[in-house]
Amino acid sequence: MKGNSLLVSPSMLASDFSDPVSALDRISHSGADYVHLDVMDGMFVPNITFGPKYIQDIRKRTDLIFDTHLMIMEPERYIKQFSAAGSDIITVHKEATRHLHRCLSMIKEEGKEAGVAINPATAVEEILPVLDMVDYVLVMSVNPGFGGQKFIRYSAKKISQLDMLRRREGYQYLINVDGGINESTVATVAKAGVDMVVTGSAFFSSMDSEVFVQNLLETAGRVL
Ligand code: DX5
Ligand code: ZN
Repeated sequence: MKGNSLLVSPSMLASDFSDPVSALDRISHSGADYVHLDVMDGMFVPNITFGPKYIQDIRKRTDLIFDTHLMIMEPERYIKQFSAAGSDIITVHKEATRHLHRCLSMIKEEGKEAGVAINPATAVEEILPVLDMVDYVLVMSVNPGFGGQKFIRYSAKKISQLDMLRRREGYQYLINVDGGINESTVATVAKAGVDMVVTGSAFFSSMDSEVFVQNLLETAGRVL
């Protein structure tokens, strides 16, 4: 259920891929507890990033919680690999699989936390049948594939709807939002009932990432 404070998950997508250790240090010094790992296959999204080997290698360098966001077609083919690589949370897209329930069950069977993500054009109604089995719902507030895009305001409505649904039905999931989150947009999603925010370009372009995270927490705290 909803905690009092905002969870912050900086995305490695916006980091310098030639120096992941510095990026991880920056994240842990910022006070964030999570690392968001954007896996892209060039099919589900028009971009390609990294696979399980990268996650396995950086796993040795940090104790931060690994929040793996799979933007790949038929993610059920790779759940075991991303689990073995050291992911703590594995999130799959509703739009990427014909067998969402099976896919989420596989993640739970691996002993990992399971998340379901929805694209900006996917309605909350499309994931109603799995809301009782997920630990996270990830609301995409940009079209997945790239960092640095503009926040889509309708996503706040989906967050409110998910918050209302969990209160009414007693669901346990946390609500996460991904895309265009910065000091100007965090208040909107906090007000709507979000628990966790992903932040890529705003985090890594900030002068001081500790101050940046504090600003997010304070801004969210004022409206929570
Ligand atoms: C987009 C990714 C995001 C991305 C967010 O497809 O899922 O996690 O890193 O980047 P910003 O915060 O720059 O919108
Ligand atoms: Zn992401």
